[in-house]
This record gives sequence, C-alpha cells and structure tokens, in this order.
Amino acid sequence: MNYPALPDQGIHADRPPLGANRVRIDVCNLGKSFSMDGRTIQAVEDVSFRIHEGEFVALLGPSGCGKSTILNMIATLLPASGGSILIDGAPVVPMRPVRDVGYVFQRDTLFPWRTVEANIGYALELAGVPAAERRERVRAAIAQAGLTGFATFYPASLSGGMRQRVALMRTLIVQPRILLMDEPFGALDTHTKLEMHRVLLEIWEREKQTVLFVTHDLGEALTLSDRIILLSARPGQLKEEFAIDFPRPRDAVTLREQPAYAALFSRIWHSLGEEFAKGLAS
Ligand SMILES: Nc1ncnc2c1ncn2[C@@H]1O[C@H](COP(=O)(O)OP(=O)(O)OP(=O)(O)O)[C@@H](O)[C@H]1O
Ligand SMILES: [Mg+2]
Repeated sequence: MNYPALPDQGIHADRPPLGANRVRIDVCNLGKSFSMDGRTIQAVEDVSFRIHEGEFVALLGPSGCGKSTILNMIATLLPASGGSILIDGAPVVPMRPVRDVGYVFQRDTLFPWRTVEANIGYALELAGVPAAERRERVRAAIAQAGLTGFATFYPASLSGGMRQRVALMRTLIVQPRILLMDEPFGALDTHTKLEMHRVLLEIWEREKQTVLFVTHDLGEALTLSDRIILLSARPGQLKEEFAIDFPRPRDAVTLREQPAYAALFSRIWHSLGEEFAKGLAS
C-alpha cells in the first residue's frame, strides 16, 4: 500500500516514529463521490492515514471538506467510491457495523421519548444484558457524566451540554475500543465545551480507547489529540499531519495558557485558514 510520507514537523523531530503500535484503523486511498441532480460531487479524494491502538487523532478541516463522510465510511454507514478501509486488518463492509466501534454523531440523536437512563441503557437492552447489571452500569455512567439526579429526565428538559453527555455515555456504555466522534461538542458554548473536554479526557486517560475525533475547532483538536490530520477544502485530501505532544494528563484551560500551545496554534491556524478561505470561495 502506498502512504504519503508524514511531513517534517521540525519542532517534534525527536518524537519516535508513529506506527510503533498495532494499527487499528487503516484508511488507504479513500475516495467518495455523490451524484445528485445529474451532478457529481467529489467529497473525498485519495485520503490515506493509519490510527494506532490507544491513539487520539483529530481529523480537522473546514465545513464541507468531507469529515463526516470519512467517518460514515469507517462506520460502514456509507460505501466508499474508491480505496479501502481496514479495521484490525479486516476490510469493512457497508452496513455491517464492526462490534468494537462506537460512534458519537454530529447531530443530537437521543431518543426524545426515552429518559436519560433509558437512552444510556438502550444498547445494553439490545445486547440482552440482565436488568440488574444494566441498572448498575447505567448508574455508574450517569455518575461519571455528572448527571446524577437527572436519570429520569427526558432530553427535552436537559441543556445542550447535558444532552451531549448522555449521547457520549450512550456510546461508551458498551465499552467500544474504537471511538468515532463527529463534532460531538460543536453546538456547545465555550465553557460547556471545555467542561466536556475535561470529561472526555478523564475517561480517555483511564480507558485509552483508539479515537478518531472530527472537528473544525483547532483549539479542541490541540487540547484533545495526539495527532492532527488536516484536510484540505473539498474535495477533502490529506494536507498535513501534526504530532501534538503536550504532556498528559492535560487540563484544557491551563494548556491554552502555555507558549507551546500558542506557537503550535498559530502554525496550524495558517494552514487551516487557507483551506477555510478556499472552502468559502468554492
Ligand atoms: N448524502 C449526500 N448526498 C450528496 N452529497 C453529500 C451527501 N453527504 C455529503 N455530501 C456532500 O459531501 C461534501 C462533504 O460533506 P460532509 O458532511 O462530509 O462535510 P463535513 O466536513 O463533515 O462538514 P461539516 O464540518 O459542515 O459537518 C459536501 O459538499 C456535502 O454536500
Ligand atoms: Mg460533518
């Protein structure tokens, strides 16, 4: 297989080569086009990357560059037009979800007719987990998400941040080892978003899932990830990769006060800004 070389990143030259661990997600020359009203839209073109066990990778790019499309193909919800996706070495098959993969969607997908506890426990019900064990696991998840006292509330009576915490826990409750997250905090205000980063980092530090996190928020990508994959404006192509080796555990607020954070932010911002401008012009 043919992978583009990682660009020389200068400031992280002493980092060990990526790829020391097991590859869990292997995306090779991936492409996707959509046909609509006699027009063909090339959404994604020739994208290749690998994600290793326990790595937290952010997929960053402007609106419409194909981030959700890539995630949907990895999640088997969409067939690819070209290239391949392997999870743990096995090619994914459209509409055949891989057991170890959890997906937190871009849109709020909670069931409005189910309470917080019934939303979080839904996948356990489907899996036939006995009621007593289900109750215990749901109770623990609610506590972990800071939602104690809201178990019997319906989504309509929750804030946006609380709904996102329910959505996160609904995915995490089945303990997926690979997590696909599509701008899960995109609709939240800055403070609530930082709080969600704290919750997510705390869980990830403990569980070390393999994460592919889609965002167009550079600060979010820098705060959370080990590596940023920067996509070009549509058609989404791999533009650059950046290793993010700020020490962990990270605190979303104090990290932003570090000079190293500001330096890397401005470096990537420039490259991302070019793609935002192209996206607006197209
Ligand atoms: N089902 C579809 N049918 C036709 N075109 C589609 C479909 N899904 C996505 N597209 C097109 O593919 C391109 C990429 O869309 P996608 O949703 O992947 O972008 P994105 O990077 O996730 O954007 P955002 O940050 O706004 O969520 C867009 O031009 C979009 O119009
Ligand atoms: Mg999207």
